[in-house]
Amino acid sequence: MNGYHEPYESLAPPDRDLHRALLSLKEEIEAVDWYHQRVVTCTDQDLGQVLAHNRDEEIEHACMTLEWVRRTSPAWDLALRKFVFTEGSITQKERPSPSAPLAASRGHAEPPRGDLAIGRLHDPVEPKGRHDSRAAGAPERALCPTP
Ligand SMILES: [Fe+2]
Repeated sequence: MNGYHEPYESLAPPDRDLHRALLSLKEEIEAVDWYHQRVVTCTDQDLGQVLAHNRDEEIEHACMTLEWVRRTSPAWDLALRKFVFTEGSITQKERPSPSAPLAASRGHAEPPRGDLAIGRLHDPVEPKGRHDSRAAGAPERALCPTP
């Protein structure tokens, strides 16, 4: 399987499954984009409807995979609960970092170099049944580092 950035044997089975899911999610999203481009440029109405149907099914596939990732990864669960199905400014939902006023005073919302302004994504209380490499006897490998 390709797409690994670390030695395959260094990854525990749950980490390999997460990789499979994330790779699949990427592929489903690419398919949505490709179908959408074909839909909006297609000159035949019937073919356009078929392609739109296919695009929408790829959206379902992506959402199903994303839901698996959410159920498996506490960091994804936390971030999705914070940002998805919300109203108002998306960027304002992120906890302000100590450098946020400085960035704002510079007239842009970008974090200063070296600060991703991600905040703390690690869930200190891991829900039962969630992905945890430690359960497989592997050393602790949080999906997001704790500060
Ligand atoms: Fe698909």
